[in-house]
Amino acid sequence: MKLAVLRTFICALTTTGVTGLLGQRSSGTATVNLAESIGDAKFLASGFIYGWPDNGVNADNSIPENFASDIKFNSCRAGGAQLPDPSKGWAFGGYEGYIGRFNSTLSNYLTTRKFGGDFILLVHDLWGADGGSGNDALFPGDNEDWTEVDAFINQLVSDIQANNMLDGLVIDIWNEPELEIFWARTWEQYLKYYVHATELFRIELPNTLISGPSMAHSPSLDRETWRTWVETVSGKGNIIPDIYSWHQIGGWEREPERTIPEFDVFRANYSLPDRPLDINEYAWPSEQNPANSVFFIAQCERHNARCLRANWGSGSGLHDDMANLVFSVDGTYHPNGEWYLYKYYAGMIGNRVATSISSDLLFDVFATVSDTTAKVIAGTRTVKSTYDIEISGLDTIGLPQEGSVDVQAYRFDWNGSLADTGSPVDLGITQYEYNSNLLKITVEPPSNSTAFAFEIHGKGV
Ligand SMILES: *[C@@H]1O[C@H](CO)[C@@H](O)[C@H](O)[C@H]1NC(C)=O
Ligand SMILES: *[C@@H]1O[C@H](CO)[C@@H](O)[C@H](O)[C@H]1NC(C)=O
Ligand SMILES: *[C@@H]1O[C@H](CO)[C@@H](O)[C@H](O)[C@H]1NC(C)=O
Ligand SMILES: *[C@@H]1O[C@H](CO)[C@@H](O)[C@H](O)[C@H]1NC(C)=O
Repeated sequence: MKLAVLRTFICALTTTGVTGLLGQRSSGTATVNLAESIGDAKFLASGFIYGWPDNGVNADNSIPENFASDIKFNSCRAGGAQLPDPSKGWAFGGYEGYIGRFNSTLSNYLTTRKFGGDFILLVHDLWGADGGSGNDALFPGDNEDWTEVDAFINQLVSDIQANNMLDGLVIDIWNEPELEIFWARTWEQYLKYYVHATELFRIELPNTLISGPSMAHSPSLDRETWRTWVETVSGKGNIIPDIYSWHQIGGWEREPERTIPEFDVFRANYSLPDRPLDINEYAWPSEQNPANSVFFIAQCERHNARCLRANWGSGSGLHDDMANLVFSVDGTYHPNGEWYLYKYYAGMIGNRVATSISSDLLFDVFATVSDTTAKVIAGTRTVKSTYDIEISGLDTIGLPQEGSVDVQAYRFDWNGSLADTGSPVDLGITQYEYNSNLLKITVEPPSNSTAFAFEIHGKGV
């Protein structure tokens, strides 16, 4: 395997704080403060949408369990999308169109629960609006008639109850309503549906969490869709979802680092309560690699958002491969390069600590402290540029204010979703000099998809 070599350089900080850099000019600095805990490790970004093979109405048993347990998989989002005739959803033949999708949903639910995960149920997929159902298809509330959607929700609720699906369940009211492929009707009709469906689910499943609005676009104060949705639910008690949700997909969108605080401004202005957040789809296909996954993980963790990887498979491919973390050859599953990154992330136990993104918003870090060990992962948003990581609070893990410290580094390679890159590359131990309780590590990624991990072992305090 011919791969460019990461060069990590330590630049001893002078007393004036000026650094002497070797190699390429740094594009910026992300920081880690080992002394400031932001809460227990929760693996908030170890979920994905779809990704489990269907197995009738039973849990999947085709993907070896360690692929899920090793990455501490903890959330899934599904609803039987993209199944062929006759299972095209309620809008295509009522119960006959729906039941195959429900079976798939139940199977995926049971697989998720086998690993203790939460399951976010996609109402729009069971309805059959799974992208391109077309203008001719029936949508909830057509001609101001809610009879059909009520019959659908009642059937769904009764099947959820009959199959003991309430534990760990979240009902996601509708997916990406501002995209015509998912909602080929007016925005006003969507807002009416949102209220109508929420009211009905609240009555029928009073103890079940609801998420919404799961917009395709992240919140922004000047987006009319977001503004009108917020205005619709504001002050309406039960209509406000238990979990706010949206998607973070593509380099053209602002990153969670900006969208989450902007949503908080929105919320405050419209007196919406502070509630959990699900980024229930993250990353465009070109953003599914170790570097970008760290970039998303870092921001999900910093802002306490649960995050699920988007899934770009189609048809039966959607219902497989753990949202492109594994792939199968002749029926045998293999992990790809990204899976190893999630496996390393799953080993970041203890306390999450405070971090900050680089000022160009293209490089980010996530870090944990457990006893006297600090672990840091670092990655860019699809750029191959040199960055620095400044790690403060070294005394927290029992190190003196200045001296030298051994840092173990690993590199996470990427060769597409269909290649097992093997375990992360062990870059060995580098000794760094530091002072002022602050260590600086420079990373020079060999590609725009490479991620790194650094481990610092302090001494018993
Ligand atoms: C990348 O994967 C392809 C197969 O998809 C393989 O032929 C190639 O050797 C791999 N490259 C490296 C550097 O491992
Ligand atoms: C759904 O599952 C039930 C129970 O196993 C089964 O009887 C039925 O045939 C299935 N329907 C479809 C369309 O998968
Ligand atoms: C704040 O809410 C008011 C309505 O209560 C609205 O008129 C105003 O545009 C909102 N401002 C922002 C920045 O969202
Ligand atoms: C990232 O690198 C790959 C491989 O060199 C390249 O094909 C791709 O265009 C790069 N992406 C960006 C956004 O620069």
